[in-house]
Amino acid sequence: MANHSTPSSTDFSSAHGQGPVSFDTVSFSYAPDQEPVLSGLTLTMPRGLTFLVGPNGIGKSTLMLLGAARLFPSQGQITLLGASTENFLTAQSDPECEERRNRLASFIYQNMEFETENPLGDLLDAVSANSPDPASAALHRQEVLEATGTGGFLGARMQELSKGEMQRAIIAMGLLYGAPVLMMDEPVFAVEPERAERIFSYLREYCTGQGTSIYASVHDVELARKFAQGVVLFHSDGLVEAGDPRELLARERLEKAFKAPWDTLYQRQTLYRDMLNRLEP
Ligand SMILES: Nc1ncnc2c1ncn2[C@@H]1O[C@H](COP(=O)(O)OP(=O)(O)O)[C@@H](O)[C@H]1O
Ligand SMILES: [Mg+2]
Repeated sequence: MANHSTPSSTDFSSAHGQGPVSFDTVSFSYAPDQEPVLSGLTLTMPRGLTFLVGPNGIGKSTLMLLGAARLFPSQGQITLLGASTENFLTAQSDPECEERRNRLASFIYQNMEFETENPLGDLLDAVSANSPDPASAALHRQEVLEATGTGGFLGARMQELSKGEMQRAIIAMGLLYGAPVLMMDEPVFAVEPERAERIFSYLREYCTGQGTSIYASVHDVELARKFAQGVVLFHSDGLVEAGDPRELLARERLEKAFKAPWDTLYQRQTLYRDMLNRLEP
């Protein structure tokens, strides 16, 4: 993708001060011989519950991985809560550096799955005990369990959960750990729609109450329209813009970004949801 640029809506971000994550003329490609995913991107990510919206394969996951210092730019600089992500280049080999990074930003990977010996309840206890703020984790435990609907399977090990239950459990872990920045890549695709709404409603409350910034990529524009406090919109021509949901999620803006008429855009989302639902046993 070429020619990412700063849109007029950066005014929205600057009105909110230095954002939790900002990109300064960032370029990134996965391999030297590959076309860059991002090129010359300057962007301030909004605060609060922010949805990343845009066509498939456009760079949503990549942008979140860069912002959370899981990937590093080929050019330019990324600032995460005031620190250049360069500070975390050694996170993969240095546990102390990894810990410092994780205390700033958590990452929920798409299709995250893991097996455990201990039941979920014990994992949540361990996550809370290791949290940068264990007292806050204890305070939020009950409401996190309620919002994610995980209270009913605290005795199960991760591999015994359905895909949707696993996603809910991982979101609960992320919230109880309580890093100030939390990236979630397609975190609810296997979660039933009503529960997904309950979760996002809580995430919004949580962001407001805790001053946390949560970034979630979703296929469902309707979810974003209902719950977004901020939006990062990826256009198929490479433009990336950050700003106000009312502006960026307006029908005409989305049609422009996706280069598709509203009806087919909506149909595509439904198809995608149906396809993913079939993945669940
Ligand atoms: N690990 C990887 N190695 C090489 N190319 C990748 C890798 N991950 C993603 N890509 C490519 O980078 C581009 C952006 O991908 P991604 O950030 O996953 O998009 P989105 O999340 O918007 O679907 C796509 O062309 C994808 O094929
Ligand atoms: Mg993705």
